[in-house]
Amino acid sequence: MAPSLLSANFARLGDEVEAVVAAGADLIHFDVMDNHYVPNLTVGPLVCEAIRPHAGAVPIDVHLMVRPVDALVPMFVQAGAGLISFHPEASEHVHRTIQLIRSHGAKAGLALNPATPVQVLDHVLDDLDLVLVMSVNPGFGGQAFIDGMLRKIEAVRRRIDASGRDVWLEVDGGVKASNAGRIAAAGADTLVAGSAVFSGGAGQYRAAIDAIRASA
Ligand code: DX5
Ligand code: ZN
Repeated sequence: MAPSLLSANFARLGDEVEAVVAAGADLIHFDVMDNHYVPNLTVGPLVCEAIRPHAGAVPIDVHLMVRPVDALVPMFVQAGAGLISFHPEASEHVHRTIQLIRSHGAKAGLALNPATPVQVLDHVLDDLDLVLVMSVNPGFGGQAFIDGMLRKIEAVRRRIDASGRDVWLEVDGGVKASNAGRIAAAGADTLVAGSAVFSGGAGQYRAAIDAIRASA
């Protein structure tokens, strides 16, 4: 279970990270948007570095929605990212970007937009640590889960199982306790949730995380 900070209170980000870590977060999902690849603007390596000490042993799961990608990779690793995912449409050389992430010691993920075919994994799955299936179009929190993505999650799960490798299958967008069961049944092993975790207020973070985990 990976809470997305996109729905956290940005005026108190360190406290928010500590609160979701105390509530049982497995990863801290950190959404980076550039007003170019996606029509929204969020935060960069400086903020990642600032929250890193607040996350303790919990890895920072950086989701890059930026174009180009490569120049930011060493900066985010330096800032404490444990995992870095990017969108294939945003990199001229997808395999090279994957190698770049891994050469800096982070786990590498490829993020698939709703309309991106799973065939993009054909020649790179053996080099990935993570596939991030987007179940909304990237750019904003609080959007509705696209039900057609359940079939896509199943297709990615089959490919991962056929590879014989331990590649994580993360699903991001519109995840809540009411659909987590179907998403996990389709083959997801890592769920991102922003609004479903943060909208109830700090007193409810553990209950929200537990509810998603119990349904999955
Ligand atoms: C969307 C982001 C997601 C988003 C999820 O572009 O990548 O991580 O924060 O938010 P919810 O869970 O509210 O859909
Ligand atoms: Zn994300």
